[in-house]
Amino acid sequence: MRKFLTIAVALLVTIGVVTGLSQAGSDDDTIKKVMKTAMKGDLCKRVADGKANDDEKKELLSLFESLSKTNPPKGDAESWKTKTTALVNAAQAAVDGKTGAGAQLKKAATCKACHSVHKGQ
Ligand code: HEC
Repeated sequence: MRKFLTIAVALLVTIGVVTGLSQAGSDDDTIKKVMKTAMKGDLCKRVADGKANDDEKKELLSLFESLSKTNPPKGDAESWKTKTTALVNAAQAAVDGKTGAGAQLKKAATCKACHSVHKGQ
């Protein structure tokens, strides 16, 4: 019985650790994907400059929505939420064709302001 319990506990701990790790891993993948496609790629810039079509605006919005559901590798969750929500709102404004959406997006997408707080190393 005792042995069984030990094994059961060990198993639970392993499952917990593995789930925790894969969770962190998938957040990391999501952030990197969004950075590559939207930020390092020119998607965000094209939308901000008013050069993107409707599909591109929607793609940017959906990328930022997935970004807002992640946890950052560094920095506190509250700050991450504020920054990623600003990105979602700006992309939404662009999709809705609101005036000032470009400026709003450029402000929300300030690379250094976010990297200095949330990007590891
Ligand atoms: C809302 C916050 C935020 C903004 C704004 C932001 N980044 Fe990032 N970026 C991150 C985080 C967090 C990481 C670290 C990802 C990781 O290592 O998991 C990152 C990583 C990166 C990477 C490395 C990706 C990789 O595969 O390792 C590049 C390139 C990048 N950002 C480009 C940009 C550019 C260019 C801009 C501005 C146009 C920008 N980012 C704006 C949060 C942001």
